[in-house]
Order: sequence, then structure tokens, then C-alpha cells
Amino acid sequence: MTASNNLHVVILAAGQGTRMKSRKPKVLQELAGQPLLAHVLTAAEALAPAVVHVVYGHGGADVRAAFAEASVNWVEQAEQHGTGHALAQAIPDIPDGAQVVVLYGDVPLIAAATLRLLVKASANSLALLTVRLAEPTGYGRIVRCDQGRVLQIVEQKDANPEQLRIDEVNTGFIAAEASKLRAWLATLRSDNAQGEYYLTDCIARSVAEGYPVTVVEAADVDEILGVNDRAQLATLERIYQQRRALNHMQQGLMLADPGRLDIRGVLEHGMDCYIDINCVIEGRVTLADNVHVGPNCVLRNVAIGAGSRIQAYSHLDGAQLGKRTQVGPFARLREGTELGDDTKVGNFVETKKAKVGNRSKINHLSYVGDAQLGQDVNVGAGTITCNYDGANKHQTVIGDRAFVGSNSALVAPVNVGSDATIGAGSTIGRDAPSGALTVSRARQRSVSGWKRPTKSAKS
Ligand code: UD1
Ligand code: MG
Repeated sequence: MTASNNLHVVILAAGQGTRMKSRKPKVLQELAGQPLLAHVLTAAEALAPAVVHVVYGHGGADVRAAFAEASVNWVEQAEQHGTGHALAQAIPDIPDGAQVVVLYGDVPLIAAATLRLLVKASANSLALLTVRLAEPTGYGRIVRCDQGRVLQIVEQKDANPEQLRIDEVNTGFIAAEASKLRAWLATLRSDNAQGEYYLTDCIARSVAEGYPVTVVEAADVDEILGVNDRAQLATLERIYQQRRALNHMQQGLMLADPGRLDIRGVLEHGMDCYIDINCVIEGRVTLADNVHVGPNCVLRNVAIGAGSRIQAYSHLDGAQLGKRTQVGPFARLREGTELGDDTKVGNFVETKKAKVGNRSKINHLSYVGDAQLGQDVNVGAGTITCNYDGANKHQTVIGDRAFVGSNSALVAPVNVGSDATIGAGSTIGRDAPSGALTVSRARQRSVSGWKRPTKSAKS
């Protein structure tokens, strides 16, 4: 990347976000499962800058704690006196000769490509990212002279009626050389409608000294939308999700409805995968070829092998599935579940830390936890591994081709040998040997001549 080690990104993130009506600082509100600031940091990092500076204020400790791992220069703005004042807090940390680009912590959809254009335009000028809006209310207006040159930015609250009709607005993203910004910031005054130091006043300063101002027009309005309240946050969420869905479809993923998928993490998929409506993807989810996911499934940190089919209403978290597995409907696979090839886990089955060998089946109404199952095992309906004694967890090990009859309780630690058969309704507290039938239920008996009770006559 060219000249990138000269580039300093400053993210303004000190604003309070009063309209969110939240205890959380605004930049920690989540879009697609990640704080707003994380999205902005991702865009910043794509520029491979020398340093990313984050100007923080409200909820500062929480913001820094949430990004403890991030390699950023934290700059505190204890009191918020405007965007110019915010940048002035960071500028002492930036050397003369550096290129500076200013981002907002609450404008999360900005694309790195757009920022690159802006940075490029700022080589020998003050570069502004602008956009034309049918409804420009609230934004700073770009005021141009009759020849079309930019003269200044006027904030909504300071604008006269004629200026309010201007539809070209300031997105807030600007880029310029550090020494220029340093000089202009030093001259800012707060004698305006909001009593703030406006970063936007740098434009008039630049014009006054005959330094060029370059305008870059944003191609996509969505990129510059900010989050001020929860309705806007929800709007951006939908824009973001729609983008991701279309992107995946371009990569060959089939979605029943791109408007009804939520990706809050990373989704990777092979060829010809299909995801039905209302699924939620969290963490890192990997689908091999030909995976079919039914409606209303939650997939979180899972890898699913080729040709597998996850049926409706299944919840998979921290699981690895082999090829051609069949899961659900209404299955819950928890952390540490590993299913071999051609396995089946059916309705109302919960698994946790369970390794299940190839072709084994747990088809109905079971809990299998802290267990290791061999190949071709059949676990009957209603089987429970009693893995917890109230203090510790214990293992259940089931050998190849074992058949566990319905409604059995396997009291761990316990082993069921290969080719063993457990009679239905058994409670198995000691190891069941290979090849044998083990049954522990009470012997069935029939009482002939037994009479049903009858109602006693009312006295
Ligand atoms: C700003 C611009 C306006 C532009 C609009 C685009 C100025 C004076 N105005 O207005 O021209 O059209 O953004 O959305 O720059 N912040 C701080 N410290 C402060 C004040 C703000 O860090 O003291 C941060 C906020 O957290 C936010 C960003 O700066 O991320 C913008 O602040 P905001 O108050 O939203 O500015 P606007 O009035 O919307
Ligand atoms: Mg704003």
C-alpha cells in the first residue's frame, strides 16, 4: 500500500449519543453483533495506516475496555466542545507531513474504497466527502461560489434560508495534511449557534489562504449514514444485512430471502448451499458444498460437512459436523459436539461434548452429554446420559454397533461395549459388556383375577 505509513486515521467517538437512551456509550451499540466502533476500525485498518487515533469521552473506560486488544492511540476528550475541539485533542500526536483522515465512530458503513479516494484527493488539498441528499436537514451544507468553488460549510443551525436549500451536504469525512489541520484548528472559534468548535470551519480557513479544497462525492449514500437513535441503528442493520446477503449470493449461496438472514460474524460456504428464511449466523460458520439449512435455525461457530441437512428450528453452537449429516428439526447441538459422517440427530435431542461416530443415530428426545459414541450406534428415543452427579461431570462411552433401547438412563461414568444391547427402560450404572443384552428394568408380571377399584357409594 502506497504512502500508508504516512497516514494517520482519527476516529471521533466522544459524542454521548443521548438519543439512544442507553447506558451504553453510542459507539458500543451493536451493528451485526459488533460495536459500531469495530466497524469503523475495520474500515480504518483496511487503509493500513501508521496510527489509528480514537478520540473518546463518554463512557471512556467501557469503550477502552471493549477494545483492549486494539492497537490504537486513545485520546481523551473529557468535555465535548465540538468536532474541531475533538480533532484538536489528537493533532498533537500526529507529526507534520502526515496525511490525516477523519472518521466518525457512529458512521459504520463507510467503505475503505471511498476512504482511499478521499485520502488520494488530499495529496495537496483539503479533501471533503460530500453527498447530495433529497432531505438534507441536520447536515452541514456545502456553500459554493457562483463559479462552483467551495467556500465554506454552514451547519444547519447557523444556515440562512437560502443555504438551507442547498442539497449538497458534508458527510463529516475529511482528509488533509497534518500541519495544515494543526494551523487551522488553532484558529477555530466557538461563536456559533451551538457554541462549539466546528471542524467544518477549516474549509473557510483553507479557502482564505488560497489552499485548494477538493470534493469527493460519495457514490453510495448508505456509506455515510450515522447512528443517532435506535431507529437509525435498525435501518443501518438492514442495509448492512442486505449487502452481505447479496454479496454471498454473488458468491453462489442460495438464500430463500436475502431480507431474512442475519449474519453476525463470518460465513463461509462452498458450492450450492441453501439457507432458508430467518436464520441467524454468529461467530464463524463454515458450510461445505451442498449444505441445506432449514428455516429458523441459529448457527454459531459451527462447521458443517458437505451434503448435510439442518432442518427447521435447530440451534447449533460450537459443533462440527461431518458429511451428509442430518440434524433436526428442533435439535440443539452445544459446544464440543462432533458428528461423524452420515450421522443423524433428530428432534428434541440435545448434545454437548459428544463425539458421535459415523452412521450413528440419536433420533428422538435424548440428552447426550460428555459422551463418546462409536460407529453405527443406535440411541433409542428418550435416552439420557446422566453425566452430572451434582458435583462433577462424567463420561459415557458407547462402542461400535451398540443399540441403546428407548428410555434408558446411562449413569456416568459408564461404558457400553461394542455390539451391546441395552433393553428399553434400563438404568445402566455399571458397564454393559460387549455383545450382550443388558437390561435393568423390573421384570414384567401379570396378575390374573385382579379387580379394578370401584367408586365407593356416597353416604
Ligand atoms: C457533523 C458536521 C456536519 C455534518 C455531520 C455529518 C461539524 C461541526 N458538523 O455534524 O457538517 O453534516 O456531522 O453527520 O463537524 N464528536 C466528538 N467530540 C465532540 C463532538 C462530536 O468526538 O465534541 C464526534 C461524535 O461522537 C460523532 C462525530 O464527532 O461521532 C460528529 O458529531 P455530531 O455531534 O454528530 O456532529 P453533527 O452535528 O452531526
Ligand atoms: Mg451527527
